[in-house]
Amino acid sequence: MDLSIIVPTFNEGPNVDELLRRIGETLGDRRFEVIFVDDSTDDTPERVLAAAERSPFPVRLLHRESATAGLGGAVVEGFHLAAARWCLVMDGDLQHPPEDIPRMLERAEAGDVDIVVASRYASGGDSKGLADATRTTVSRASTLLTKSMFPRKLSGCSDPMTGFFLVDREAVDLEALRPRGFKILLEILARRQLRIGEVPFSFAQRFAGQSKASFTQGVRFLTQLAMLRFGRMSAFALVGGAGAIANLVIMWGLIRLGLDYVPAAIIASEVTIIGNFLLLEYLVFADMRAESGRVTHRFVKSFTFNNLEAVVRIPVMSVLVEGAHIPSVLAAGLTLVAAFVVRFVFHALVVYAPKRGAVSAATARKEPAASASSGRRTLDA
Ligand code: GDD
Ligand code: MN
Repeated sequence: MDLSIIVPTFNEGPNVDELLRRIGETLGDRRFEVIFVDDSTDDTPERVLAAAERSPFPVRLLHRESATAGLGGAVVEGFHLAAARWCLVMDGDLQHPPEDIPRMLERAEAGDVDIVVASRYASGGDSKGLADATRTTVSRASTLLTKSMFPRKLSGCSDPMTGFFLVDREAVDLEALRPRGFKILLEILARRQLRIGEVPFSFAQRFAGQSKASFTQGVRFLTQLAMLRFGRMSAFALVGGAGAIANLVIMWGLIRLGLDYVPAAIIASEVTIIGNFLLLEYLVFADMRAESGRVTHRFVKSFTFNNLEAVVRIPVMSVLVEGAHIPSVLAAGLTLVAAFVVRFVFHALVVYAPKRGAVSAATARKEPAASASSGRRTLDA
């Protein structure tokens, strides 16, 4: 067996035959299997079993009665069941076109990668199949936030939110995965530095049925993100908080020395901006310094950003107060929170961005895959 295709399904009955037909047509005489990990309440399992009887290639089904970890958990169970070392994960609704699989295999066969991600956001790809403008905006914004939280591990990946990827199971620490919600690829990439290859793909329309994405899934994703990345962001917040206090103390001291409050505020801000930069260098982004070029460049970017931020924040605040009639303290709080997020994104993605080639040179650790033990009923065909 050269390839195990893992398809998580939740009520995808009408898509099963079409999916298998197109996979079979595309992969022809390659040696592969398809594993459905199913939590459906419709006739999906019956359809899979019926299709398996007629299929020229192995089609297997794991039907779970109680879905605990949802989509992400289903994918992990699929890894445990897979007969092949290389596993391809794809949706069961044909939004991930099977015709793209050969290009993904070619990229993997070219070597030097642990994972090949089919990306909507690499040049040549697109996300037109996303339901509407809201989904597109949410997808773009969450991709940006996610990449800023894992700037190094995700530096080679333009689409960490995709569910279409080909991975060397032995490069993944299966036991460490704690899937929650939809975004299993993100967790795989966040837990361990993998060597990432990308191929662009065009996200298609659903063949039949409805999306299971929901507001709840969005909240799960944010929780997962916070859990995976509590480290850097919270350290960044601590440094920012300490800076704010230092800023006020310095300003107070200067006023006591006889300075007017405006120059006192300016001096206090500049001193804090410099102090913050040093703390970011030595605490928050210490592990990324070596790869992100010269310290003077980083300083200029950080210093410019923080000064611009101060200049922009005040007028925005006054627009909120005068224009939108928001109480001034609330407006100040809102702009501070927004500024914090933007500042974090900017530092993680721009100031400390790894220079080209720096990360791909890092080698990934390898450990043997854990043996399969799922304890649940599997029906092999
Ligand atoms: N086993 C199992 N259990 N499968 C599930 C569950 C679950 O609880 N929930 C959803 N699935 C399956 C669906 O049946 C489908 O095959 C696949 O997971 C993706 O679900 P969709 O309902 O089609 O979600 P989507 O199209 O909104 O999201 C897809 O696109 C995202 C990119 O925007 C998924 O591929 C995401 O992984 C991807 O990130
Ligand atoms: Mn879908």
